[in-house]
Amino acid sequence: MADALERSERYLDTAMTRSVAATLAARSALGGFDEPLEVGGRPAAETVEMLDELGSPGTVISNGPRYFGFVTGGSQPVAAAASLLATAWDQNGALPIMSPTVAAIDAVTVRWILGLLGLPSTATATFCGGASEANLIGMITARDEVLRRAGWDVPADGLIGAPMVTVITSEETHASMKKAVALAGLGRDRMMLVPTDDQGRMVATALPAIEGPAIVVLQAGNVNTGHSDPFREVIAAAHDAGAWVHVDGAFGLWAAAAPERARLVEGMEAADSWATDAHKWLNVPYDNALAIVADGDALGRSMRVDGAYLPSTSERSPMQLGLQMSQRARAIPVWAVLRTLGRQGVSDLIERNCSLASRFAQRLAEGGAEVLHDVCLNQVLVAFGDDETTSAVIDAVQADGTCWAGGTEWNGRRAMRISVSGHETTEADVDRSAAVMLGCWESLPG
Ligand SMILES: Cc1ncc(COP(=O)(O)O)c(C=O)c1O
Repeated sequence: MADALERSERYLDTAMTRSVAATLAARSALGGFDEPLEVGGRPAAETVEMLDELGSPGTVISNGPRYFGFVTGGSQPVAAAASLLATAWDQNGALPIMSPTVAAIDAVTVRWILGLLGLPSTATATFCGGASEANLIGMITARDEVLRRAGWDVPADGLIGAPMVTVITSEETHASMKKAVALAGLGRDRMMLVPTDDQGRMVATALPAIEGPAIVVLQAGNVNTGHSDPFREVIAAAHDAGAWVHVDGAFGLWAAAAPERARLVEGMEAADSWATDAHKWLNVPYDNALAIVADGDALGRSMRVDGAYLPSTSERSPMQLGLQMSQRARAIPVWAVLRTLGRQGVSDLIERNCSLASRFAQRLAEGGAEVLHDVCLNQVLVAFGDDETTSAVIDAVQADGTCWAGGTEWNGRRAMRISVSGHETTEADVDRSAAVMLGCWESLPG
């Protein structure tokens, strides 16, 4: 354990100064893991040594200040430290009887999160592995509740023969949302897709008439642009028609925690369920997210699990609120970050990343690149001339190793996608990375 701790510290100290992407040599060395599983095993100390010496160089420094890929927050040191202690405890967070400490921390953390995000204090939230899972929990709960209101008991009778449930979302709905709808048995290809504007927001006036059991899925934070759907108008119309509204806010929901950005998600608090990640913008280690439901009884009906050996208790029991029974105590790193940063610290983290995203866009535009949307949150889409050139710049930046950004398509154009989501990124990191991106563009042959 002491050796692993020392190695972890050395990794964190040195990794920030090396290539963000793993070098070719480091990747080639990973073939060393391809060994037969020995009958007698190997010494533990040698195993940890191998993990570090072969594995550490092959990692991507996504925990560092110049990683701008996907939406990947680093890990706050206090969250990593709390996770380490929680790993030593190895508590099962399924039931309060399994760990009084975890139960106490879980309850208070949920209360803090609801307050930070401006959600109803009466809502119920449960930790899970990621926003994909939180979206699935939202879809299952929504499906069961709209069908319950129509006189159909899905947990008891299943979906065969049930009334049709209409799912309405935007053309820009996230891939994980389509998967959640498919997994919930509602049919990915049956979803009604409402058109979006040039920033990726649902056009509220294009919402179709809603009839029968229905779920409307909205988005806080488009994965490309960071823009959010028009919550007020759409939620009011959906509720008038008796529909359930779910908000996928994997990272964008955190705008609510920063007063300067909260207007971007105004009105989302009137929805019925929400999905958000802690492992993205709150910067806690993977895997950590929350599924939040305004009507906790509906969540409980969908997630209920019975067994003669399971204690019946009126206390909050995570295994009665989500997909998992046994589960890591995910509340612990979240609690540690929130307690350490406080409300102001969380707000500062969000606001700082948003300002840095604007600075990035400005620096790149000054260098002649084209910013493809209105930068409002932490996401920046930029093109370096035609599609082929933009792809070549993305490849060159990744190979350079100073920073890392990925690619996407936006409004029919190839774009570099920059997400500023880590607590360590500074103005100097942004300036240095923008200069490298522009330099890679300039150095392209021809
Ligand atoms: C809007 C949105 N929803 C859902 C997800 C899926 O989140 P996770 O990877 O935590 O499952 C993402 C991931 O980027 C996202 O941006």
